[in-house]
Amino acid sequence: MPAQPRYDFYGPIHKGLRLGLSHLLLRLGSQDFADPAGTADLLADLRAQLTLSAAHLEHEESQLHKALEARLPGAARTLEDQHRGHQTRFAQLARLMAALETAPVAERPAHGHGLYLAFSAFVAEDFHHMHEEETVTGPVLRHLFNDEELQAIEMTIIASLTPEENIAYMRLMLPAMTPAERAGLLAGMKAGAPAEAFTAVIELAAKPTLKARDFDRLAGELGIAA
Ligand SMILES: [Fe+2]
Repeated sequence: MPAQPRYDFYGPIHKGLRLGLSHLLLRLGSQDFADPAGTADLLADLRAQLTLSAAHLEHEESQLHKALEARLPGAARTLEDQHRGHQTRFAQLARLMAALETAPVAERPAHGHGLYLAFSAFVAEDFHHMHEEETVTGPVLRHLFNDEELQAIEMTIIASLTPEENIAYMRLMLPAMTPAERAGLLAGMKAGAPAEAFTAVIELAAKPTLKARDFDRLAGELGIAA
């Protein structure tokens, strides 16, 4: 009999962050920065994504890294150094966005290209960091903690989110997951979360982000109306 797969602490949220960052990278590369309305929409979405990315680092540090350091001192040091690097990038990106917004329209395409390059560097660094978390830290976590303990750490993070933050993360995670991962996550939520929270995730996160065919399949698996 194949071994039962272990609880994947990083998998779903990292898939979601990769999806959000990839979409924004494509948009930044193809944006006409001389178009004020389109640029304003893009910068608003970029700021929202960077807020979620920054909050994710904070969740890892305050919950997961604290627990990891308690069992294996020094185990989170490299990850936290990488997080400091991300924070330097966030500050740089905020400065570049502000400079773009206040530049004369004729100069905005040059600013936009600089922002695109800086964001691409952040994406590369974050992808590398998340890869290390999943391939190096993940096995350490599974060695030091059982699945119930890892799940309890994740539950503490989820409980700290506002309803709006929860929906924002779900809008990234659900379309990024396989149908089986999606059905598993939402079946757990249907069984364990308040009914209105589950309904909000279906209506505000699953329905608007999934292709009709994927949503129908999910609804069938969850036993809810499509
Ligand atoms: Fe991290």
